[in-house]
Amino acid sequence: MCGIVGYIGNNDAASILISGLKKLEYRGYDSAGIAVHENSKIKIKKKKGKLDNLISEIESEIFSGKTGLGHTRWATHGKPSDSNSHPHDDYNGEIVIVHNGIIENFESLKKDLTAKGHQFKSDTDTEVVAHLISSNYEDDLKQAVEKSVQKLEGSFAMAVMAVDQDDRIIAVRKDSPLIIGIGENENFLASDIPAYLSRTNDFYILEDGELAEIRKDSIDIYSFSSGEKKEKIKTHIDWDAEMAEKQGYVHFMLKEINEQPEALKWLLQDRLKDGQIDLRDSNIDKKWLSKYSKIHIVACGTAYHSGLLAKYLYEELLQISVEVEVASEYRYRKPLADKSTLMIAVSQSGETADTLAALRLAKKKGADILAFTNSRDSSIARESDMVLYLNAGPEIAVASTKAYTNMVAAFYMLVLDGLRQKDDFSKKALKKLTDELIKLPELMRLVIDNTEEKIKKIAEKYAEKAHIFFIGRNTDYALALEGALKLKEISYIHSEAYPAGELKHGTLALVEEGVPVISIALRKRLFAKLFSNLKEVKSRGAETLLITSAGNSYDEDTVDEVVELPEVDDYFAGLLAVVPMQLLAYYTALICERDIDQPRNLAKSVTVE
Ligand code: AGP
Repeated sequence: MCGIVGYIGNNDAASILISGLKKLEYRGYDSAGIAVHENSKIKIKKKKGKLDNLISEIESEIFSGKTGLGHTRWATHGKPSDSNSHPHDDYNGEIVIVHNGIIENFESLKKDLTAKGHQFKSDTDTEVVAHLISSNYEDDLKQAVEKSVQKLEGSFAMAVMAVDQDDRIIAVRKDSPLIIGIGENENFLASDIPAYLSRTNDFYILEDGELAEIRKDSIDIYSFSSGEKKEKIKTHIDWDAEMAEKQGYVHFMLKEINEQPEALKWLLQDRLKDGQIDLRDSNIDKKWLSKYSKIHIVACGTAYHSGLLAKYLYEELLQISVEVEVASEYRYRKPLADKSTLMIAVSQSGETADTLAALRLAKKKGADILAFTNSRDSSIARESDMVLYLNAGPEIAVASTKAYTNMVAAFYMLVLDGLRQKDDFSKKALKKLTDELIKLPELMRLVIDNTEEKIKKIAEKYAEKAHIFFIGRNTDYALALEGALKLKEISYIHSEAYPAGELKHGTLALVEEGVPVISIALRKRLFAKLFSNLKEVKSRGAETLLITSAGNSYDEDTVDEVVELPEVDDYFAGLLAVVPMQLLAYYTALICERDIDQPRNLAKSVTVE
């Protein structure tokens, strides 16, 4: 949700800001802008649309400034337009600001400022903050920002410059991420680490309530409520810049699909000691299964789908009650969480606002929080009692692929750890399941290599359809939801997933000649049931695609296309089945000529409600 960048040093700020914005465009792409100190003024250039529009706009301009800010926007207040784009200023160009988040009380602030004579050029909440800071500014930018943020309600990551102080940038954070990259005689500011990985691997991760005064040779961090100076510890990130590049792939999504076997291997190898799962690094109690009487899983979108799959497994194998809910619902009800609850908060970015709020609610009620996240030192990681890092490497495409597979794998590891604690589960059976899990990266590679061509052909047919349905039962239903989300998110084709048995309670009315129905049938004990649902749709004219494991026999007249996966224990087969669904989404979107890595209206990291 909006990307912020900042630079202060001895080099050309504009080009460094643009290179940072390129890496952050996944966070929002409705408009982009930069502001650079130039000859005693702050020059602002901003443009509606994708970053390329801004780049062509400023192509012939000469920038020489060494301090500046940049922004890529995902619109909340005010439609995407040149005037609503960031950076915003206080009308006179004396105070300039970029912001990520939502200022909930901006209307009342705007009213007060208007009464004092301030005039506004945009519909945004951010512009109001520029005016507020301006009204509090005498000659100390830090003080003016400090005073102004006390008046703000909502969430914000902001960076501010003053025209008469080109030697500093002030940054503040509350409920929206912001990191400071530490260089030599230069420092950087960004919403996310990939922005400046090519320039530094050392960062300060700002926490809520912190204000940073950034100069080219110093970074001072304070609490913005008490004013007290803070000692921060550097975070060293060992990803390299190349990991966040396309490396010859046309899209990040295709690259990330192909990286899944490796990413899965990294995740597993860190937590496999002598052929056994070892989750010590997450800090989880060795006897967690008897410590808790229930599990609450909260997450959004794809991350939620990984949790739903886990619910079926955990209740079946561990006999522990599991509730799984989208975080935006959980946070506004009165969930029965208490000391006996283990909450698992799942989030690739670690910054999803709803997931963070759900976590805080459960924590307040006494639950212990375990985070599954891909982002070190993210808000969700920091506020959780235990963290299992997903180790998927940077995921840039808005459509999540490798993070999802590692979320599911993290749930698999935890279930095996739970089975280890059960006296009635044999060591031999546990060893067999662990061996199956270890095989997955290799099998996943096979699935990518062996199904891609077939999927491309199926995609040619599907790209012309208006509706596509996915069905499954049990864990296969959770996978169906993920398949449908992936497809609709990037191809814009209407796709929905249903528990197979539900079709006849309404949705079957939509099935007619030529409507594709994709069925995921991995669970052996439910295969016959699922297959009878497939027959129901086939007899109504559906074009059927069956995704199943080798060894399941089926009646060939009922299926038009089959994707057969290598045999693996059906508890774990989901990790293989998701791959053809990701490829199907990708190739269908490619034929439809969609903007695959940055689908319309979406953003990678949803840091607002
Ligand atoms: C997935 O393809 C999505 N773009 C989206 O559903 C995503 O999974 C969701 O917004 C949650 O993000 P998080 O994992 O960073 O919390």
